[in-house]
Amino acid sequence: MAAAIIIRLVWSLLLASSLHGFHAKTPAKITLGTSLTPGVNSSWQSPSGDFALGFYPVTGGFFLLGIWFDKIPERTLIWSANRDTPAPFQSTVNLTLDGRLVLIYPNGTRHFINEGEAANSASMQDDGNFVLWNSFSRVLWQSFDSPTDTLLPGQILNMGQKLYSNANGTVDHSTGRFMLELQDFDGNMVLSAYRFADRGYWYTATINQKIVRLIFNQSTSFMYLINESETIYKMTNNVPLPIKDYYHRATVEDSGNFQQYVYQKQNGKQWESVWKAITEPCFVNAICGVYGFCTSPDNQTISCSCLDGFSLLNPSNPSKGCSPQFPIEQCGEYDSMNYKVVVIDDADFPNDVFTDLERIRNSDLESCKKALLDDCYTIAASFNNTDRLTKRMPFLNARQSLPSTKIIKALIKVPIRTKRESGGK
Ligand SMILES: *[C@@H]1O[C@H](CO)[C@@H](O)[C@H](O)[C@H]1NC(C)=O
Ligand SMILES: *[C@@H]1O[C@H](CO)[C@@H](O)[C@H](O)[C@H]1NC(C)=O
Ligand SMILES: *[C@@H]1O[C@H](CO)[C@@H](O)[C@H](O)[C@H]1NC(C)=O
Ligand SMILES: *[C@@H]1O[C@H](CO)[C@@H](O)[C@H](O)[C@H]1NC(C)=O
Ligand SMILES: *[C@@H]1O[C@H](CO)[C@@H](O)[C@H](O)[C@H]1NC(C)=O
Ligand SMILES: *[C@@H]1O[C@H](CO)[C@@H](O)[C@H](O)[C@H]1NC(C)=O
Ligand SMILES: *[C@@H]1O[C@H](CO)[C@@H](O)[C@H](O)[C@H]1NC(C)=O
Ligand SMILES: *[C@@H]1O[C@H](CO)[C@@H](O)[C@H](O)[C@H]1NC(C)=O
Repeated sequence: MAAAIIIRLVWSLLLASSLHGFHAKTPAKITLGTSLTPGVNSSWQSPSGDFALGFYPVTGGFFLLGIWFDKIPERTLIWSANRDTPAPFQSTVNLTLDGRLVLIYPNGTRHFINEGEAANSASMQDDGNFVLWNSFSRVLWQSFDSPTDTLLPGQILNMGQKLYSNANGTVDHSTGRFMLELQDFDGNMVLSAYRFADRGYWYTATINQKIVRLIFNQSTSFMYLINESETIYKMTNNVPLPIKDYYHRATVEDSGNFQQYVYQKQNGKQWESVWKAITEPCFVNAICGVYGFCTSPDNQTISCSCLDGFSLLNPSNPSKGCSPQFPIEQCGEYDSMNYKVVVIDDADFPNDVFTDLERIRNSDLESCKKALLDDCYTIAASFNNTDRLTKRMPFLNARQSLPSTKIIKALIKVPIRTKRESGGK
């Protein structure tokens, strides 16, 4: 609460000072020997004032050197230089006389943005790109080449480049749990829960291509993939017109979705989705952590909980996953009499090469239950009225997501007594 008030206060101070700077005439080129500090002269604005680069306030009195939409109340951050090391109040960013853009922390630590040839000037452009130029107006460095979680119209993603979600919406802009990668070895573009060695929960299947690029077309605001000769995958197919009446962005979100948004410049109230990779949010892998269970009644929000026999690792953050309330027994002392099978309707444990054990065709519910109890290695199974798929521990991605998991039954084996009686030894 106090933190929120302080942030609002800092924002209004920043707003006052940056608006003042704007009316005082924004130079087209930022010259060598110029610097910014949080609070005072806190941003370099683009000529239209749509974008600004400067110190963006985050929680705890810290700042990120970043670029944001400067004319909308949300001040949506689209790029940052130092997302995992926020800068304290007394930090500065300098475009030094020797041509370096450098973030200087109060303890003297320096974070250099550009290397190699010295820059001669810089500019914050109206397309949201921050550019460092040499004396022949050649681009030496640009923020469009090192995206964090967001792409803007005019920006291109090349093979090998990645976007990482942030950790928590507007609360925590550090590197989060989900990655969008345009894979350099095959040209496939994949969304994954990369910390789990995940093969991905959404992909474009644009494989066996030599060169693939993601284009965020500035004139149409459509996103699509191209190879050397043609469009090979279309994402956006509809945006409100005219294009210039809206702000546009595409972001890999903390929910694991990759989504394109518009914000009406006049009278707009919020970002509105025009395209999304994932339509059922529980299909984002690992969204509820290890042993977590995801439900989504409306395809908009999700809720994470634990299955019978499991409890939340962190009760104040259900997305961190669950842990078993029972000891995992060695197979040598396994006794099926100590276990029961719980059946969850319209739910699934999706396919996963790491935890799938076997697929049995033409099964039925009773034999699925019996098979679970009889085999000490299996902990869970899913049954779709014909086929049974068994799982071992630990499992990810248990979910109930309609209509996709309709008729599927998720089966899980738990001890009849979830806690050992105390003093029983
Ligand atoms: C802020 O910017 C103005 C105009 O560029 C400059 O005159 C002034 O010295 C700057 N103030 C600080 C504290 O850097
Ligand atoms: C960075 O800018 C500040 C404020 O203008 C100045 O005091 C400092 O000497 C500069 N540091 C470097 C390395 O240029
Ligand atoms: C300097 O400050 C930054 C930000 O607070 C911190 O991450 C870094 O570890 C510090 N470096 C040293 C050498 O103390
Ligand atoms: C953007 O789309 C327009 C209209 O389809 C096309 O003429 C132009 O070449 C595209 N731009 C890029 C960078 O592909
Ligand atoms: C581009 O992709 C299309 C469709 O997969 C393919 O037919 C074509 O040969 C590719 N072009 C190049 C130059 O690889
Ligand atoms: C969720 O999205 C899917 C796929 O677009 C759709 O078929 C389904 O009706 C939606 N479910 C709800 C509850 O809105
Ligand atoms: C994000 O932050 C909010 C507010 O602090 C918190 O309630 C929520 O649990 C956080 N979510 C995640 C996924 O960490
Ligand atoms: C169950 O899954 C198998 C394998 O994916 C599939 O062939 C079968 O049609 C499914 N049965 C139903 C009723 O959906």
